Amino acid sequence: MSDATAKKEERHKFQAIKGTRDLMPPETELWNRVEQTAHEIFATFGYGEIRLPVFEETDLFARSIGLNTDVVSKEMYTFVDRPLEDLEKLKEQIITRPIGLVNITNLGIFDGEVEHFLSEVKPLFDREEISRSPENAAALRSVHLAHQEMRRLLLDRALSRPELQDPLVAQIVEIKNEMRKVLLGNVLTMRPEATASVCRAYIEHNMQQLPQPVKLYYMGPMFRRERPQKGRYRQFYQIGAEILGGTDAPGIDAEVIEMLMTFFDKVGLQGATLYINSIGHNAENCRRGYVAKLKAALEKVKDKLGPDSQRRIDTNPLRVLDSKLESEQAIIATLPHIADHLCDECKTHYAEVKRQLQVRGVLYQENWRLVRGLDYYMRTTFEITAPGLGSQNAVCGGGRYDGLVELLGGTPTKGIGFAIGEDRLILSLQESGKGQVQQGRDIYVAWMGEKAHATAIRAAKDLRKVGFSVELPPLEQKFGKALSQADKLGAKFALILGDNEVSEGLWTLKTLSTGEQSKFSEPDLLEFLRQQKNVSS
Ligand code: HAM
Repeated sequence: MSDATAKKEERHKFQAIKGTRDLMPPETELWNRVEQTAHEIFATFGYGEIRLPVFEETDLFARSIGLNTDVVSKEMYTFVDRPLEDLEKLKEQIITRPIGLVNITNLGIFDGEVEHFLSEVKPLFDREEISRSPENAAALRSVHLAHQEMRRLLLDRALSRPELQDPLVAQIVEIKNEMRKVLLGNVLTMRPEATASVCRAYIEHNMQQLPQPVKLYYMGPMFRRERPQKGRYRQFYQIGAEILGGTDAPGIDAEVIEMLMTFFDKVGLQGATLYINSIGHNAENCRRGYVAKLKAALEKVKDKLGPDSQRRIDTNPLRVLDSKLESEQAIIATLPHIADHLCDECKTHYAEVKRQLQVRGVLYQENWRLVRGLDYYMRTTFEITAPGLGSQNAVCGGGRYDGLVELLGGTPTKGIGFAIGEDRLILSLQESGKGQVQQGRDIYVAWMGEKAHATAIRAAKDLRKVGFSVELPPLEQKFGKALSQADKLGAKFALILGDNEVSEGLWTLKTLSTGEQSKFSEPDLLEFLRQQKNVSS
Protein backbone atom coordinates (compact mmCIF):
# COMPACT_ATOMS: atom_id res chain seq x y z
CA MET A 1 0.00 0.00 0.00
CA SER A 2 1.43 3.39 -0.95
CA ASP A 3 1.69 6.13 1.68
CA ALA A 4 -0.95 8.14 -0.17
CA THR A 5 -3.46 5.26 -0.17
CA ALA A 6 -2.72 4.53 3.46
CA LYS A 7 -3.39 8.18 4.33
CA LYS A 8 -6.62 8.14 2.36
CA GLU A 9 -7.77 5.02 4.19
CA GLU A 10 -6.92 6.64 7.47
CA ARG A 11 -9.21 9.50 6.55
CA HIS A 12 -12.11 7.19 5.71
CA LYS A 13 -14.95 8.02 8.03
CA PHE A 14 -16.93 5.08 9.19
CA GLN A 15 -20.64 5.55 9.03
CA ALA A 16 -23.65 3.48 9.94
CA ILE A 17 -24.63 1.23 7.03
CA LYS A 18 -27.37 2.57 4.76
CA GLY A 19 -30.76 1.81 6.24
CA THR A 20 -29.40 1.40 9.77
CA ARG A 21 -29.08 4.15 12.34
CA ASP A 22 -27.95 4.96 15.83
CA LEU A 23 -30.68 5.64 18.33
CA MET A 24 -29.39 8.12 20.83
CA PRO A 25 -30.38 9.93 23.98
CA PRO A 26 -32.68 11.65 24.64
CA GLU A 27 -34.73 9.77 22.00
CA THR A 28 -33.81 6.40 23.49
CA GLU A 29 -35.67 7.45 26.60
CA LEU A 30 -38.84 7.50 24.55
CA TRP A 31 -37.97 4.05 23.17
CA ASN A 32 -37.55 2.80 26.71
CA ARG A 33 -40.84 4.30 27.77
CA VAL A 34 -42.63 2.63 24.85
CA GLU A 35 -40.98 -0.72 25.58
CA GLN A 36 -41.71 -0.45 29.29
CA THR A 37 -45.37 0.22 28.50
CA ALA A 38 -45.43 -2.90 26.31
CA HIS A 39 -43.95 -4.99 29.14
CA GLU A 40 -46.61 -3.67 31.52
CA ILE A 41 -49.67 -3.86 29.27
CA PHE A 42 -48.86 -7.27 27.79
CA ALA A 43 -48.27 -8.67 31.28
CA THR A 44 -51.77 -7.58 32.30
CA PHE A 45 -53.09 -9.79 29.48
CA GLY A 46 -51.01 -12.74 30.66
CA TYR A 47 -48.21 -12.64 28.07
CA GLY A 48 -44.63 -13.60 28.91
CA GLU A 49 -41.54 -12.31 27.13
CA ILE A 50 -39.58 -14.54 24.76
CA ARG A 51 -36.09 -13.53 23.60
CA LEU A 52 -35.25 -15.05 20.27
CA PRO A 53 -32.05 -15.38 18.27
CA VAL A 54 -31.43 -12.74 15.64
CA PHE A 55 -30.54 -15.27 12.97
CA GLU A 56 -32.13 -18.57 12.05
CA GLU A 57 -31.94 -21.17 9.30
CA THR A 58 -32.97 -19.52 6.06
CA ASP A 59 -35.48 -22.26 5.35
CA LEU A 60 -37.49 -21.36 8.45
CA PHE A 61 -38.36 -17.99 6.94
CA ALA A 62 -38.61 -19.20 3.36
CA ARG A 63 -41.12 -21.86 4.33
CA SER A 64 -43.24 -19.68 6.66
CA ILE A 65 -43.31 -16.34 4.92
CA GLY A 66 -43.42 -17.85 1.43
CA LEU A 67 -41.00 -17.93 -1.50
CA ASN A 68 -43.00 -15.51 -3.62
CA THR A 69 -43.27 -12.78 -1.02
CA ASP A 70 -41.15 -9.64 -1.35
CA VAL A 71 -39.55 -10.37 2.01
CA VAL A 72 -38.21 -13.79 1.02
CA SER A 73 -37.59 -13.21 -2.67
CA LYS A 74 -35.61 -10.00 -2.37
CA GLU A 75 -35.22 -8.60 1.12
CA MET A 76 -33.48 -11.19 3.28
CA TYR A 77 -29.94 -10.83 4.58
CA THR A 78 -28.69 -14.34 4.02
CA PHE A 79 -25.19 -15.68 4.47
CA VAL A 80 -23.31 -18.94 4.64
CA ASP A 81 -22.13 -19.33 8.17
CA ARG A 82 -18.57 -20.45 8.61
CA PRO A 83 -17.56 -21.46 5.10
CA LEU A 84 -14.74 -23.83 5.96
CA GLU A 85 -11.83 -22.56 3.93
CA ASP A 86 -9.58 -25.63 3.98
CA LEU A 87 -12.43 -27.96 3.21
CA GLU A 88 -13.66 -25.59 0.52
CA LYS A 89 -10.20 -25.78 -1.09
CA LEU A 90 -10.18 -29.55 -0.89
CA LYS A 91 -13.62 -29.69 -2.47
CA GLU A 92 -12.42 -27.47 -5.31
CA GLN A 93 -9.34 -29.68 -5.82
CA ILE A 94 -11.47 -32.81 -6.02
CA ILE A 95 -13.90 -31.25 -8.47
CA THR A 96 -11.17 -29.91 -10.76
CA ARG A 97 -8.67 -32.80 -10.58
CA PRO A 98 -8.23 -34.28 -14.03
CA ILE A 99 -8.58 -38.04 -13.90
CA GLY A 100 -7.21 -40.11 -16.71
CA LEU A 101 -7.60 -43.80 -16.17
CA VAL A 102 -4.10 -44.37 -17.49
CA ASN A 103 -2.68 -42.29 -14.66
CA ILE A 104 -3.11 -44.54 -11.67
CA THR A 105 -1.34 -42.06 -9.38
CA ASN A 106 -3.95 -39.39 -10.01
CA LEU A 107 -6.70 -41.86 -9.28
CA GLY A 108 -5.03 -42.77 -6.00
CA ILE A 109 -4.75 -39.10 -5.01
CA PHE A 110 -8.39 -38.53 -5.97
CA ASP A 111 -9.49 -41.48 -3.83
CA GLY A 112 -7.47 -40.22 -0.86
CA GLU A 113 -8.88 -36.72 -1.19
CA VAL A 114 -12.47 -37.92 -1.29
CA GLU A 115 -11.81 -40.16 1.70
CA HIS A 116 -10.29 -37.24 3.61
CA PHE A 117 -13.14 -34.92 2.61
CA LEU A 118 -15.82 -37.33 3.82
CA SER A 119 -14.08 -38.04 7.11
CA GLU A 120 -13.78 -34.30 7.80
CA VAL A 121 -17.33 -33.51 6.81
CA LYS A 122 -19.13 -36.22 8.75
CA PRO A 123 -18.49 -34.89 12.28
CA LEU A 124 -19.27 -31.36 11.13
CA PHE A 125 -22.55 -32.57 9.70
CA ASP A 126 -23.33 -34.45 12.93
CA ARG A 127 -22.57 -31.33 14.97
CA GLU A 128 -24.85 -29.28 12.70
CA GLU A 129 -21.95 -27.07 11.71
CA ILE A 130 -22.78 -27.63 8.10
CA SER A 131 -26.29 -27.56 6.74
CA ARG A 132 -28.41 -30.58 7.60
CA SER A 133 -30.98 -29.66 5.00
CA PRO A 134 -32.39 -32.65 3.08
CA GLU A 135 -30.58 -31.45 -0.07
CA ASN A 136 -27.21 -31.31 1.67
CA ALA A 137 -27.74 -34.66 3.36
CA ALA A 138 -28.68 -36.23 -0.01
CA ALA A 139 -25.62 -34.77 -1.77
CA LEU A 140 -23.29 -36.08 0.93
CA ARG A 141 -24.89 -39.50 0.84
CA SER A 142 -24.46 -39.62 -2.94
CA VAL A 143 -20.78 -38.69 -2.70
CA HIS A 144 -20.28 -41.41 -0.10
CA LEU A 145 -22.10 -44.09 -2.15
CA ALA A 146 -20.34 -43.19 -5.39
CA HIS A 147 -17.00 -43.25 -3.58
CA GLN A 148 -17.68 -46.74 -2.22
CA GLU A 149 -18.72 -47.94 -5.62
CA MET A 150 -15.60 -46.43 -7.16
CA ARG A 151 -13.45 -48.31 -4.66
CA ARG A 152 -15.27 -51.56 -5.30
CA LEU A 153 -14.63 -51.19 -9.00
CA LEU A 154 -10.99 -50.39 -8.38
CA LEU A 155 -10.61 -53.51 -6.27
CA ASP A 156 -12.14 -55.42 -9.13
CA ARG A 157 -9.12 -54.25 -11.12
CA ALA A 158 -11.23 -52.05 -13.32
CA LEU A 159 -8.15 -50.63 -14.97
CA SER A 160 -7.21 -53.94 -16.50
CA ARG A 161 -10.79 -54.95 -17.30
CA PRO A 162 -12.17 -52.74 -20.08
CA GLU A 163 -15.80 -53.62 -19.31
CA LEU A 164 -15.43 -51.98 -15.85
CA GLN A 165 -13.80 -48.78 -17.03
CA ASP A 166 -16.95 -46.93 -18.08
CA PRO A 167 -18.74 -47.61 -14.77
CA LEU A 168 -15.62 -46.38 -12.96
CA VAL A 169 -15.60 -43.13 -14.93
CA ALA A 170 -19.33 -42.76 -14.23
CA GLN A 171 -18.67 -42.97 -10.46
CA ILE A 172 -15.91 -40.38 -10.67
CA VAL A 173 -18.24 -38.01 -12.52
CA GLU A 174 -20.98 -38.72 -9.98
CA ILE A 175 -18.62 -37.89 -7.08
CA LYS A 176 -17.66 -34.60 -8.69
CA ASN A 177 -21.24 -33.63 -9.56
CA GLU A 178 -22.64 -34.41 -6.14
CA MET A 179 -19.73 -32.75 -4.40
CA ARG A 180 -20.53 -29.52 -6.24
CA LYS A 181 -23.89 -29.52 -4.42
CA VAL A 182 -22.40 -29.94 -0.94
CA LEU A 183 -22.66 -26.81 1.14
CA LEU A 184 -19.81 -26.45 3.63
CA GLY A 185 -21.62 -24.26 6.14
CA ASN A 186 -25.10 -23.31 7.22
CA VAL A 187 -27.32 -20.97 5.28
CA LEU A 188 -28.58 -18.46 7.79
CA THR A 189 -30.74 -15.38 7.58
CA MET A 190 -30.97 -12.30 9.77
CA ARG A 191 -34.58 -12.48 10.92
CA PRO A 192 -36.92 -10.34 8.81
CA GLU A 193 -39.71 -10.93 11.35
CA ALA A 194 -40.23 -13.09 14.43
CA THR A 195 -43.49 -15.03 14.04
CA ALA A 196 -41.65 -17.92 12.36
CA SER A 197 -39.08 -17.97 15.18
CA VAL A 198 -41.79 -18.02 17.86
CA CYS A 199 -43.42 -21.00 16.13
CA ARG A 200 -40.03 -22.72 15.86
CA ALA A 201 -39.47 -22.16 19.58
CA TYR A 202 -42.99 -23.41 20.38
CA ILE A 203 -42.20 -26.68 18.62
CA GLU A 204 -38.61 -26.94 19.86
CA HIS A 205 -39.58 -26.50 23.52
CA ASN A 206 -42.66 -28.71 23.35
CA MET A 207 -44.82 -25.81 24.39
CA GLN A 208 -47.92 -27.70 23.27
CA GLN A 209 -47.54 -29.53 26.60
CA LEU A 210 -47.98 -26.32 28.57
CA PRO A 211 -51.45 -25.04 29.47
CA GLN A 212 -52.86 -23.66 26.23
CA PRO A 213 -52.88 -21.13 24.78
CA VAL A 214 -49.30 -19.98 25.17
CA LYS A 215 -49.02 -16.20 25.08
CA LEU A 216 -45.65 -14.73 24.16
CA TYR A 217 -44.31 -11.32 23.25
CA TYR A 218 -40.96 -10.09 21.96
CA MET A 219 -39.17 -6.94 21.00
CA GLY A 220 -36.01 -6.35 19.03
CA PRO A 221 -34.37 -5.67 15.69
CA MET A 222 -35.51 -7.18 12.40
CA PHE A 223 -33.70 -6.95 9.07
CA ARG A 224 -35.07 -6.40 5.58
CA ARG A 225 -33.19 -5.12 2.58
CA GLU A 226 -35.76 -2.54 1.56
CA ARG A 227 -35.18 0.86 -0.05
CA PRO A 228 -34.66 3.14 2.95
CA GLN A 229 -36.97 6.12 3.38
CA LYS A 230 -38.82 7.82 6.20
CA GLY A 231 -40.21 5.08 8.43
CA ARG A 232 -38.52 2.32 6.42
CA TYR A 233 -35.16 0.98 7.49
CA ARG A 234 -33.05 -2.08 6.84
CA GLN A 235 -32.62 -2.65 10.53
CA PHE A 236 -35.87 -1.78 12.24
CA TYR A 237 -37.50 -2.73 15.50
CA GLN A 238 -40.66 -4.62 16.23
CA ILE A 239 -42.68 -5.21 19.35
CA GLY A 240 -44.79 -8.26 18.70
CA ALA A 241 -47.03 -10.76 20.42
CA GLU A 242 -48.20 -14.24 19.47
CA ILE A 243 -50.79 -16.50 20.99
CA LEU A 244 -50.39 -20.17 20.15
CA GLY A 245 -52.44 -23.29 20.84
CA GLY A 246 -55.88 -23.66 22.30
CA THR A 247 -58.85 -22.58 20.26
CA ASP A 248 -59.42 -20.27 17.33
CA ALA A 249 -62.41 -18.71 19.08
CA PRO A 250 -63.08 -15.19 17.73
CA GLY A 251 -62.72 -13.93 21.31
CA ILE A 252 -58.98 -14.57 20.99
CA ASP A 253 -58.71 -12.44 17.85
CA ALA A 254 -60.72 -9.67 19.48
CA GLU A 255 -58.68 -9.75 22.68
CA VAL A 256 -55.35 -9.62 20.84
CA ILE A 257 -56.56 -6.53 19.01
CA GLU A 258 -57.96 -5.05 22.22
CA MET A 259 -54.56 -5.49 23.89
CA LEU A 260 -52.87 -3.76 20.98
CA MET A 261 -55.23 -0.80 21.06
CA THR A 262 -54.88 -0.56 24.85
CA PHE A 263 -51.12 -0.36 24.37
CA PHE A 264 -51.38 2.34 21.68
CA ASP A 265 -53.72 4.30 23.90
CA LYS A 266 -51.37 4.02 26.87
CA VAL A 267 -48.32 5.23 24.91
CA GLY A 268 -50.37 8.18 23.67
CA LEU A 269 -50.59 7.34 19.96
CA GLN A 270 -53.17 9.63 18.42
CA GLY A 271 -55.25 9.24 15.30
CA ALA A 272 -54.57 5.52 14.86
CA THR A 273 -56.98 3.66 12.58
CA LEU A 274 -57.54 -0.06 12.86
CA TYR A 275 -58.38 -1.88 9.62
CA ILE A 276 -59.59 -5.45 9.65
CA ASN A 277 -60.48 -8.11 7.13
CA SER A 278 -60.94 -11.85 6.82
CA ILE A 279 -59.07 -13.60 4.04
CA GLY A 280 -60.77 -16.95 4.56
CA HIS A 281 -59.47 -20.39 5.21
CA ASN A 282 -56.76 -21.91 3.09
CA ALA A 283 -57.74 -25.50 3.71
CA GLU A 284 -61.41 -24.79 3.04
CA ASN A 285 -62.49 -23.91 -0.42
CA CYS A 286 -63.32 -20.30 0.31
CA ARG A 287 -59.86 -18.81 -0.19
CA ARG A 288 -58.91 -21.09 -3.07
CA GLY A 289 -62.21 -20.39 -4.82
CA TYR A 290 -61.79 -16.67 -4.32
CA VAL A 291 -58.19 -16.63 -5.53
CA ALA A 292 -59.27 -18.47 -8.71
CA LYS A 293 -62.00 -15.88 -9.33
CA LEU A 294 -59.63 -13.02 -8.58
CA LYS A 295 -57.06 -14.44 -10.95
CA ALA A 296 -59.61 -14.75 -13.72
CA ALA A 297 -60.75 -11.17 -13.16
CA LEU A 298 -57.15 -9.95 -13.13
CA GLU A 299 -56.35 -11.74 -16.40
CA LYS A 300 -59.10 -9.69 -18.04
CA VAL A 301 -57.57 -6.38 -16.98
CA LYS A 302 -53.93 -7.48 -17.19
CA ASP A 303 -53.02 -4.93 -19.89
CA LYS A 304 -54.03 -2.05 -17.66
CA LEU A 305 -51.87 -3.16 -14.75
CA GLY A 306 -48.25 -2.28 -14.07
CA PRO A 307 -45.44 -4.86 -14.36
CA ASP A 308 -45.42 -5.71 -10.61
CA SER A 309 -49.11 -6.51 -10.53
CA GLN A 310 -48.91 -8.36 -13.84
CA ARG A 311 -46.23 -10.61 -12.37
CA ARG A 312 -48.27 -11.14 -9.21
CA ILE A 313 -51.27 -12.47 -11.15
CA ASP A 314 -49.30 -15.71 -11.42
CA THR A 315 -47.18 -15.66 -8.31
CA ASN A 316 -49.48 -14.16 -5.66
CA PRO A 317 -52.74 -12.64 -7.01
CA LEU A 318 -53.98 -11.55 -3.57
CA ARG A 319 -51.05 -9.14 -3.34
CA VAL A 320 -52.36 -7.15 -6.30
CA LEU A 321 -55.01 -5.84 -3.91
CA ASP A 322 -52.20 -4.28 -1.87
CA SER A 323 -51.01 -2.13 -4.76
CA LYS A 324 -50.55 1.55 -4.00
CA LEU A 325 -50.10 2.52 -7.69
CA GLU A 326 -52.45 5.39 -8.44
CA SER A 327 -53.18 4.15 -11.96
CA GLU A 328 -54.37 0.76 -10.66
CA GLN A 329 -56.78 1.95 -7.99
CA ALA A 330 -59.86 2.29 -10.20
CA ILE A 331 -59.27 -1.17 -11.69
CA ILE A 332 -58.77 -2.80 -8.30
CA ALA A 333 -62.05 -1.30 -7.10
CA THR A 334 -63.87 -3.45 -9.68
CA LEU A 335 -62.33 -6.76 -8.56
CA PRO A 336 -64.36 -9.37 -6.64
CA HIS A 337 -64.41 -8.98 -2.83
CA ILE A 338 -63.35 -11.88 -0.62
CA ALA A 339 -66.22 -11.23 1.82
CA ASP A 340 -68.63 -12.45 -0.87
CA HIS A 341 -66.76 -15.74 -1.12
CA LEU A 342 -66.13 -16.74 2.49
CA CYS A 343 -67.44 -20.15 3.55
CA ASP A 344 -70.08 -20.17 6.28
CA GLU A 345 -67.59 -20.98 9.02
CA CYS A 346 -65.24 -18.15 8.07
CA LYS A 347 -68.17 -15.75 7.67
CA THR A 348 -69.44 -16.58 11.18
CA HIS A 349 -65.94 -16.31 12.61
CA TYR A 350 -65.42 -12.89 11.05
CA ALA A 351 -68.83 -11.60 12.15
CA GLU A 352 -68.11 -12.70 15.71
CA VAL A 353 -64.66 -11.05 15.73
CA LYS A 354 -66.35 -7.78 14.72
CA ARG A 355 -69.09 -8.17 17.30
CA GLN A 356 -66.58 -8.82 20.06
CA LEU A 357 -64.51 -5.82 19.02
CA GLN A 358 -67.65 -3.72 19.46
CA VAL A 359 -68.31 -5.26 22.86
CA ARG A 360 -64.78 -4.29 23.85
CA GLY A 361 -65.25 -0.76 22.57
CA VAL A 362 -62.60 -1.14 19.86
CA LEU A 363 -63.30 0.98 16.81
CA TYR A 364 -62.38 -0.50 13.45
CA GLN A 365 -62.82 -0.05 9.74
CA GLU A 366 -63.23 -2.94 7.36
CA ASN A 367 -60.85 -3.03 4.43
CA TRP A 368 -61.50 -5.82 1.94
CA ARG A 369 -58.13 -5.17 0.31
CA LEU A 370 -56.14 -5.95 3.45
CA VAL A 371 -54.39 -9.19 2.52
CA ARG A 372 -50.96 -8.69 4.18
CA GLY A 373 -47.64 -9.43 2.56
CA LEU A 374 -46.73 -12.73 4.19
CA ASP A 375 -48.14 -16.09 3.11
CA TYR A 376 -48.99 -17.62 6.47
CA TYR A 377 -52.17 -15.70 7.19
CA MET A 378 -55.72 -17.01 7.15
CA ARG A 379 -59.04 -15.60 8.35
CA THR A 380 -58.54 -12.46 10.48
CA THR A 381 -56.00 -9.93 9.22
CA PHE A 382 -55.51 -6.43 10.60
CA GLU A 383 -53.33 -3.39 10.23
CA ILE A 384 -53.09 -0.09 12.06
CA THR A 385 -52.08 3.15 10.46
CA ALA A 386 -51.01 6.30 12.23
CA PRO A 387 -50.62 9.91 11.11
CA GLY A 388 -47.36 11.75 10.48
CA LEU A 389 -45.65 8.90 8.68
CA GLY A 390 -46.06 9.65 4.96
CA SER A 391 -46.37 6.63 2.74
CA GLN A 392 -45.02 4.17 5.34
CA ASN A 393 -47.97 4.67 7.64
CA ALA A 394 -48.62 1.11 8.88
CA VAL A 395 -47.51 1.00 12.52
CA CYS A 396 -48.69 -2.53 13.07
CA GLY A 397 -49.70 -5.61 11.14
CA GLY A 398 -51.01 -8.95 12.22
CA GLY A 399 -53.40 -11.78 11.75
CA ARG A 400 -54.32 -15.40 12.28
CA TYR A 401 -51.99 -18.17 11.05
CA ASP A 402 -53.50 -21.49 12.13
CA GLY A 403 -51.48 -23.72 9.79
CA LEU A 404 -48.02 -22.35 10.47
CA VAL A 405 -46.83 -24.51 13.37
CA GLU A 406 -47.88 -27.61 11.47
CA LEU A 407 -46.15 -26.39 8.33
CA LEU A 408 -42.95 -26.15 10.37
CA GLY A 409 -43.25 -29.72 11.59
CA GLY A 410 -45.33 -29.26 14.75
CA THR A 411 -48.77 -30.54 15.67
CA PRO A 412 -51.82 -28.68 14.30
CA THR A 413 -51.89 -25.47 16.34
CA LYS A 414 -53.95 -22.30 16.22
CA GLY A 415 -52.06 -19.03 16.13
CA ILE A 416 -52.61 -15.31 15.90
CA GLY A 417 -50.45 -12.28 16.60
CA PHE A 418 -49.16 -8.91 15.52
CA ALA A 419 -45.99 -6.88 15.24
CA ILE A 420 -45.74 -3.17 15.87
CA GLY A 421 -43.14 -1.20 13.89
CA GLU A 422 -41.48 0.54 16.81
CA ASP A 423 -39.54 3.02 14.65
CA ARG A 424 -42.78 4.19 13.07
CA LEU A 425 -44.63 4.31 16.37
CA ILE A 426 -41.88 6.53 17.80
CA LEU A 427 -41.96 8.78 14.71
CA SER A 428 -45.70 9.20 14.98
CA LEU A 429 -45.47 10.00 18.70
CA GLN A 430 -42.81 12.59 17.98
CA GLU A 431 -44.78 14.17 15.13
CA SER A 432 -47.84 14.53 17.33
CA GLY A 433 -45.87 16.07 20.17
CA LYS A 434 -46.41 13.03 22.37
CA GLY A 435 -42.80 12.02 22.16
CA GLN A 436 -41.44 14.48 24.65
CA VAL A 437 -39.10 13.01 27.11
CA GLN A 438 -37.74 14.48 30.24
CA GLN A 439 -34.37 15.87 29.35
CA GLY A 440 -31.48 16.95 31.47
CA ARG A 441 -30.34 16.15 34.97
CA ASP A 442 -32.30 16.70 38.11
CA ILE A 443 -29.41 18.10 40.07
CA TYR A 444 -26.02 19.61 39.28
CA VAL A 445 -23.68 19.56 42.25
CA ALA A 446 -21.59 22.74 42.17
CA TRP A 447 -18.85 22.14 44.71
CA MET A 448 -15.92 24.36 45.62
CA GLY A 449 -13.05 23.46 47.89
CA GLU A 450 -11.49 20.20 49.02
CA LYS A 451 -13.74 19.80 52.07
CA ALA A 452 -16.82 20.37 50.00
CA HIS A 453 -15.67 17.76 47.47
CA ALA A 454 -16.03 14.88 49.93
CA THR A 455 -19.49 16.15 50.96
CA ALA A 456 -20.45 16.51 47.29
CA ILE A 457 -19.46 12.93 46.55
CA ARG A 458 -21.59 11.73 49.47
CA ALA A 459 -24.53 13.95 48.48
CA ALA A 460 -24.43 12.66 44.88
CA LYS A 461 -24.38 9.10 46.14
CA ASP A 462 -27.37 9.63 48.43
CA LEU A 463 -29.38 11.49 45.81
CA ARG A 464 -28.72 8.86 43.16
CA LYS A 465 -29.71 6.16 45.62
CA VAL A 466 -33.20 7.61 45.82
CA GLY A 467 -33.47 7.96 42.06
CA PHE A 468 -32.36 11.47 41.12
CA SER A 469 -30.15 11.96 38.12
CA VAL A 470 -27.13 13.80 39.39
CA GLU A 471 -24.17 15.42 37.64
CA LEU A 472 -21.08 15.70 39.79
CA PRO A 473 -18.28 17.58 38.01
CA PRO A 474 -14.98 15.72 38.41
CA LEU A 475 -12.96 18.91 38.81
CA GLU A 476 -13.55 21.99 40.89
CA GLN A 477 -15.22 24.78 38.92
CA LYS A 478 -15.69 28.46 39.48
CA PHE A 479 -19.19 29.24 40.63
CA GLY A 480 -20.23 30.99 37.36
CA LYS A 481 -18.83 28.19 35.20
CA ALA A 482 -20.63 25.56 37.29
CA LEU A 483 -23.98 27.30 36.93
CA SER A 484 -23.64 27.79 33.20
CA GLN A 485 -22.70 24.11 32.83
CA ALA A 486 -25.76 23.15 34.90
CA ASP A 487 -27.85 25.28 32.57
CA LYS A 488 -26.41 23.66 29.44
CA LEU A 489 -27.19 20.22 30.79
CA GLY A 490 -30.79 21.28 31.46
CA ALA A 491 -30.47 20.65 35.19
CA LYS A 492 -33.44 21.64 37.32
CA PHE A 493 -31.46 22.43 40.45
CA ALA A 494 -27.93 23.33 41.37
CA LEU A 495 -26.82 22.10 44.74
CA ILE A 496 -24.19 24.56 45.88
CA LEU A 497 -21.60 23.21 48.26
CA GLY A 498 -18.77 25.47 49.41
CA ASP A 499 -16.78 25.66 52.63
CA ASN A 500 -19.54 27.71 54.31
CA GLU A 501 -22.29 25.23 53.49
CA VAL A 502 -20.23 22.34 54.77
CA SER A 503 -19.27 23.96 58.04
CA GLU A 504 -22.78 25.34 58.68
CA GLY A 505 -24.44 22.03 57.68
CA LEU A 506 -26.86 24.04 55.55
CA TRP A 507 -26.78 23.37 51.86
CA THR A 508 -27.82 25.87 49.19
CA LEU A 509 -30.24 24.78 46.49
CA LYS A 510 -30.81 26.97 43.46
CA THR A 511 -33.87 26.41 41.28
CA LEU A 512 -32.42 27.15 37.88
CA SER A 513 -35.66 28.10 36.12
CA THR A 514 -36.50 30.84 38.65
CA GLY A 515 -33.12 31.68 40.10
CA GLU A 516 -34.59 31.16 43.60
CA GLN A 517 -32.14 30.05 46.23
CA SER A 518 -32.80 28.47 49.66
CA LYS A 519 -30.80 26.81 52.38
CA PHE A 520 -31.67 23.36 53.70
CA SER A 521 -30.34 20.93 56.21
CA GLU A 522 -29.42 17.62 54.58
CA PRO A 523 -32.63 15.73 55.54
CA ASP A 524 -34.85 18.72 54.64
CA LEU A 525 -33.19 19.02 51.27
CA LEU A 526 -33.86 15.40 50.45
CA GLU A 527 -37.48 15.79 51.48
CA PHE A 528 -37.89 18.98 49.45
CA LEU A 529 -36.40 17.37 46.32
CA ARG A 530 -38.58 14.30 46.76
CA GLN A 531 -41.67 16.47 46.86
CA GLN A 532 -40.56 18.35 43.75
CA LYS A 533 -40.07 15.08 41.91
CA ASN A 534 -43.53 13.83 42.86
CA VAL A 535 -45.08 17.06 41.64
CA SER A 536 -43.35 16.90 38.27
CA SER A 537 -43.85 13.17 37.53
P1 HAM B 1 -45.25 -6.96 8.84
O1 HAM B 1 -46.49 -6.29 8.37
O2 HAM B 1 -44.30 -7.43 7.81
O3 HAM B 1 -45.72 -8.16 9.75
O4 HAM B 1 -44.48 -5.99 9.82
C1 HAM B 1 -45.13 -5.44 10.94
C2 HAM B 1 -44.76 -3.98 11.10
O5 HAM B 1 -43.34 -3.82 11.13
C3 HAM B 1 -45.20 -3.09 9.93
O6 HAM B 1 -46.54 -2.70 10.07
C4 HAM B 1 -44.26 -1.91 10.10
O7 HAM B 1 -44.74 -1.03 11.08
C5 HAM B 1 -43.00 -2.56 10.61
N1 HAM B 1 -42.01 -2.70 9.52
C6 HAM B 1 -41.96 -3.66 8.58
N2 HAM B 1 -40.91 -3.43 7.75
C7 HAM B 1 -40.29 -2.31 8.18
C8 HAM B 1 -39.14 -1.56 7.76
N3 HAM B 1 -38.39 -1.94 6.73
N4 HAM B 1 -38.83 -0.44 8.45
C9 HAM B 1 -39.56 -0.04 9.51
N5 HAM B 1 -40.63 -0.71 9.96
C10 HAM B 1 -41.01 -1.83 9.32
C11 HAM B 1 -44.88 -9.01 10.40
O8 HAM B 1 -43.69 -8.84 10.51
C12 HAM B 1 -45.59 -10.16 11.07
N6 HAM B 1 -44.57 -11.04 11.69
C13 HAM B 1 -46.58 -9.66 12.09
C14 HAM B 1 -47.31 -10.76 12.77
C15 HAM B 1 -47.05 -11.26 13.99
N7 HAM B 1 -48.30 -11.45 12.27
C16 HAM B 1 -48.70 -12.36 13.13
N8 HAM B 1 -47.92 -12.27 14.18
